[in-house]
Amino acid sequence: MTRVMHENDTNFTGKVVWITGASSGIGEALAVLLAGKKAKLILTARREAALMALSDRLDTAVKVLAADLYAADFQALTTAALAAFGGIDMVIHAAGIGQRSLAAETPLKVYRQLMEINFFAPVAITGCLLPVCKAHMVVIGSMSGLMGFPGRTGYAASKHALKGYFETLQVEQDVPVTIVSPGRVQTNLSLSAITASGEAHGVMDEAQAKGIPAMECALRILKGVAQKKKHVIIARKEKYLYWLHWWWPSMYYKIAKKYSFASGK
Ligand SMILES: NC(=O)c1ccc[n+]([C@@H]2O[C@H](COP(=O)([O-])OP(=O)(O)OC[C@H]3O[C@@H](n4cnc5c(N)ncnc54)[C@H](OP(=O)(O)O)[C@@H]3O)[C@@H](O)[C@H]2O)c1
Repeated sequence: MTRVMHENDTNFTGKVVWITGASSGIGEALAVLLAGKKAKLILTARREAALMALSDRLDTAVKVLAADLYAADFQALTTAALAAFGGIDMVIHAAGIGQRSLAAETPLKVYRQLMEINFFAPVAITGCLLPVCKAHMVVIGSMSGLMGFPGRTGYAASKHALKGYFETLQVEQDVPVTIVSPGRVQTNLSLSAITASGEAHGVMDEAQAKGIPAMECALRILKGVAQKKKHVIIARKEKYLYWLHWWWPSMYYKIAKKYSFASGK
């Protein structure tokens, strides 16, 4: 079962890649690109019909493993993923949900939901895989995993936790890890983002709609992975905010406070 992509292997052909969050957005774009490179794909998300429709479009070997990562049997899911093609070379942890609520109005159960899907699910999958294989872990974090942003206390916490876990895993266990921190990408993330009531935000935020196209983001992710990058930042002007966060913190706090999650800007 132990199979690891070769150090300098920039060729995804024949590699077994498990993508969570493959039914839309960044995960779907990655599936399309990897299918073009003839990787063998295992696709996971809740919407089985969307995964099957995607699978039909892909000219490569695909196994659909639909699951709700909020409350999955991770051992059974991982066993099924390993059995699909006899091993796993890479896992792309792309499944995730966003948040649109202020801390003062957000109940603990909303924080738990964000942590379950964005943090505990990747940790659980990784924990099940570690005893049997050292698959390359590609983790879709966020710029919110590097700094705070209004309306996203739980989302930012989950993405900070994700970065902390996988960065530590890499130094502790020598597992190949690529952490990806995108800024805004044109996907459905703001539509499905959880609000204080637990309902979906249901709005395509203006800034989300103007984000980097999902396919461009996916291309840059695969370029970083092929180059064995440990951290890939894919952002437009958000990256200046990140630099300010390091080099001129008082200015970062001033600017970040002006962002309004309510206006979607
Ligand atoms: N878009 C951005 O601006 C942006 C920026 C930074 C980071 N990211 C990160 O990128 C990743 C992909 O998001 P996206 O932007 O591509 O948004 P998206 O289009 O909404 O995709 C999210 C994916 O996660 C899956 N998912 C959500 N909840 C799930 C659950 N309980 N169980 C299993 N799968 C679940 C969704 O599938 P189902 O609904 O079928 O379950 C979908 O495939 C996320 O981790 C997100 O935090 C996005």
